[in-house]
Amino acid sequence: MPASANTSPNFWVRDIPVFGDLILSPMDGFSDLPFRSLVRTLGSVMSYTEFVNAMDVLNGHPHLDQRLRYSEEERPVVYQIFDDNPERIVAAALKLREREPDIIDVNMGCASRSVAGRGAGAGLLRTPHKIAEIFKRLTAELDIPVTGKIRLGWDDKNLNYLEVAKIIEQNGGQLIAVHGRTKGQNYTGNANWDAIAEIKQAVSVPVIANGDVRRVADIARIKAHTGCDGVMIGRAAIGNPWIFSRLDRLQVPAELVRATMLDHLESMLDFYGYEHGQVLFRKHVVGYVSPHRLSRIQRKRLFNTQSPDEFITLLDEIILESVAA
Ligand SMILES: Cc1cc2nc3c(=O)[nH]c(=O)nc-3n(C[C@H](O)[C@H](O)[C@H](O)COP(=O)(O)O)c2cc1C
Repeated sequence: MPASANTSPNFWVRDIPVFGDLILSPMDGFSDLPFRSLVRTLGSVMSYTEFVNAMDVLNGHPHLDQRLRYSEEERPVVYQIFDDNPERIVAAALKLREREPDIIDVNMGCASRSVAGRGAGAGLLRTPHKIAEIFKRLTAELDIPVTGKIRLGWDDKNLNYLEVAKIIEQNGGQLIAVHGRTKGQNYTGNANWDAIAEIKQAVSVPVIANGDVRRVADIARIKAHTGCDGVMIGRAAIGNPWIFSRLDRLQVPAELVRATMLDHLESMLDFYGYEHGQVLFRKHVVGYVSPHRLSRIQRKRLFNTQSPDEFITLLDEIILESVAA
């Protein structure tokens, strides 16, 4: 049964109750409305959108409408912003506020060169005074809670997660999600759950632990290890949205996998349009079929179909055959 069936909140983000402990990670290119809606029905209890660039918000970039659209069933909805400039972040957050999200989150974790390299995302970890200014100003100007998602520091010689977590809390931040790696690690090595436990001890706002939850058993392990209030799951949800119902991929019956894939495809075709939806869905197909080795010919056919109808027929044929094998 999804954790959202709980009647008492697991934690609060200021005055917003959260009923459950598992949350889909924000993931650029994945945590769109169709995928978020799917995982919400399976037990994820908050919806973080894909991050948006404050400059794009201020310039009214045409892609934003799609990235920021959400359904009422998803609440609490968290909009995540990135930038290195406090002024722009505040102006963008005020503009985003008009779309009535429940929470605004500041990205301090993105390690990509185009983001961290210019001092945004994980680049902000190098300028804690900016983090203080951003949270102080955001929490003064917004009437909804402000939260942060961090890494542990720029690299292993510059681990400043305790300083950053305290700055976020002292300047009004209402929740801290922690990916237990440094910017330098990117996605290599292991996530450091000890550091997440230290943060949990050091602050009194909710702490969400993130990094390397790959199987259902890892959920209890990371909770016991860190004492966190919730667990954020990213890559393991791609291909196994049932992890939010505490099922490992191989525990999910083949018929359910197939039915869910087709529902997911349909919602992506509706959301993005036929052509684009089909192309974007391929990233999920890779995840869904990952436990089952497809032949090269099957793989080629799956990724080279031109029409969505043909794609659906192929999915039906290949996936059903493959998952039943
Ligand atoms: C494809 C991809 C896109 C991501 N995009 C974002 C993002 O937009 N915002 C963010 O805070 N983190 C982003 N992340 C980081 C994840 O939220 C998460 O912190 C990271 O993947 C570690 O968790 P995991 O081990 O459960 O995957 C992204 C990760 C991946 C793999």
